[in-house]
Amino acid sequence: MTRVLVLNGPNLNLLGTREPAIYGTATLADVEQLCAATAAQHGLEVTCVQSNHEGALVDALHEARAAGDVLGVVLNAAAYTHTSVALLDAVKASALPVVEVHISNPHARESFRHTSYLSPVAEAIIAGAGVHGYRYAVDLLATRHGG
Ligand code: DQA
Repeated sequence: MTRVLVLNGPNLNLLGTREPAIYGTATLADVEQLCAATAAQHGLEVTCVQSNHEGALVDALHEARAAGDVLGVVLNAAAYTHTSVALLDAVKASALPVVEVHISNPHARESFRHTSYLSPVAEAIIAGAGVHGYRYAVDLLATRHGG
């Protein structure tokens, strides 16, 4: 069965308790369940990876490319969004459609969050929709790239 990779970066393992006024009270497990349920509506599976380490996120993108059955990636690179040339290069190398997701709207926050190294290579960007952004991203990938 075809898969969507849901890739979450640093500190998102703390969702639910981390700055709930900004990120809400849903946990990472809730987010991953939401993605799985949305994917299932399209006959797809998800593989969910979260890491606090930049290289592990790069590795997950390489593995998705090599696997051959990943139709796209939902990527919330968290703080690495604003810093990581390595992730930019990995997204390009993956040759997979990537939807960049942010729970908050980084453009309404500190200026250092206004730059994304990933946006130029993202197929779409969803920000400020809360955890629903993940659902919209899975829907988009399934609609555009699924069967
Ligand atoms: C985030 C926004 C980033 O600026 C921040 O570093 C995060 C989460 C979001 O989902 O809103 O960790 O990507």
